[in-house]
Amino acid sequence: MSDLDPYLDFLRHVRRLTGIDLTHYKRPQMERRLAHLRDRRGFSDFSSYASALARDASLLRELLDRVTIQVSEFFRNPERWAELQTRLAAVHAPLRAWSAGCAQGEEPYSLAILCEELGLQADIWATDLDEGALQAAARGVYAPRSLANVSRERLQRFFEPVPDGWRVRSPVRRRVRFERHNLLADPYPRDLDLIVCRNLLIYLTDAAKQAIIAGFAESLRCGGLLFVGSTEQLVAIDLCGLRPVAPFLYQKPVEP
Ligand SMILES: C[S@@+](CC[C@H](N)C(=O)[O-])C[C@H]1O[C@@H](n2cnc3c(N)ncnc32)[C@H](O)[C@@H]1O
Repeated sequence: MSDLDPYLDFLRHVRRLTGIDLTHYKRPQMERRLAHLRDRRGFSDFSSYASALARDASLLRELLDRVTIQVSEFFRNPERWAELQTRLAAVHAPLRAWSAGCAQGEEPYSLAILCEELGLQADIWATDLDEGALQAAARGVYAPRSLANVSRERLQRFFEPVPDGWRVRSPVRRRVRFERHNLLADPYPRDLDLIVCRNLLIYLTDAAKQAIIAGFAESLRCGGLLFVGSTEQLVAIDLCGLRPVAPFLYQKPVEP
């Protein structure tokens, strides 16, 4: 390692090992998280931790789990999902939707449930950086704590009890396609009616966030919607031509 800044040198090393560039994530939080992990594993500095990561796949796996914070739940901020459902009622099928940073599937399945209730045909593409999260998502089994905002009616209609929790029933599971995608490196799809990207932008630097929003604006059809997290209100300079239509919901104008 050579950089004068051991943290940046460490990130270069992680990038070589994983292809993931952590310089796009806000430094104070990321550095705190990585230093905590390094200390817990008994390394005195980033340099020795980096050497160990190159030798030990389980250490690397742990690091990736730690940096891709996968906290999620079904219908997180339920009133926002209710607003989204009202708007989707006016959409012409089939809906082309992308859940970006979908964690273990709670978010795209929430969307699939809304579509099922509306009888709306939908193609839902759900992506995340983390392979482990995607595997769990495809299985679709959840502990009760992820389901706190799921009504009894929805639980009965869209989930079945299994020994380790509740499994999303197959008509809902079949509506979602999971794939690995890095928002900071991979190409974005086109002609989308809806992008759901919640509680991810908050971890990124302003420059990275801006680049992603610009990419989303390109990906949407005119009239398409971007749904962000409830801590991620976009300000004027972030908007890239999108206009706010409800809290945390933005639309690409029909006439840009
Ligand atoms: C806090 S979770 C949010 C999950 C869900 N969207 C929600 O709001 O409940 C953030 C997710 O973003 C994913 N993520 C982080 N950086 C990413 C990137 N560059 N590309 C794709 N996904 C990313 C993480 O793996 C994690 O699953």
